Amino acid sequence: MAGRSRALLVLAAVVAATSCSLQVAAHGPLFGTQGGPLFGATTAQQGPPATTVAEICRGTAFPELCTATAGKQAARYGTVDVLTVLQMQVDALAMRTDAARARVGKESTTASPAGRTALQQCDKFYGDVMENLGACRRAIGHKDAVTIRSTMSMVAQDLAFCDEEFRKAGEKNPLEHFDQSLGNMSEICRSLSNMITV
Ligand SMILES: *[C@@H]1O[C@H](CO)[C@@H](O)[C@H](O)[C@H]1NC(C)=O
Repeated sequence: MAGRSRALLVLAAVVAATSCSLQVAAHGPLFGTQGGPLFGATTAQQGPPATTVAEICRGTAFPELCTATAGKQAARYGTVDVLTVLQMQVDALAMRTDAARARVGKESTTASPAGRTALQQCDKFYGDVMENLGACRRAIGHKDAVTIRSTMSMVAQDLAFCDEEFRKAGEKNPLEHFDQSLGNMSEICRSLSNMITV
């Protein structure tokens, strides 16, 4: 495709995304497709689109995890949009972090001294994750995508720090699965923050 028409296409996508993000989500993936639906979106302003969680999640790093995570909570929300799906992901992140901390307590009873020290460090990092999730919630209330992304970067960093404690101790991280799924969920939040329109 010629550079000029590609530039026009990108422009059209930006216009569509800023004028009505839900319409874009209802018409197909936000990114990666060329032509068609994105142009149509600019004319489809009237009437609220019936957007589903799956449609919003389709534009994220892990669509299936995003949908499954939000699915159980979706019924509690009247309207589904990027911000409500973000809230659902953050709530799920908090629950999963609580579960990880509960596992810390369980693993501590049988851990080696070095392992126990690493677990204690991870517990501190999880506490930091919870604080960042609180900051993220406030940022969602302000539609502040930049702050949402920075809180998610800090979450990802805390998870990496936890893994690092076990590498230093020369032991397998018993929380590895938690750290992975939490990391993947933070990626979903990043993706969603990129879809926020103000
Ligand atoms: C997280 O994402 C990676 C791919 O980036 C995948 O290999 C892994 O299975 C996922 N883990 C969980 C627990 O969702």
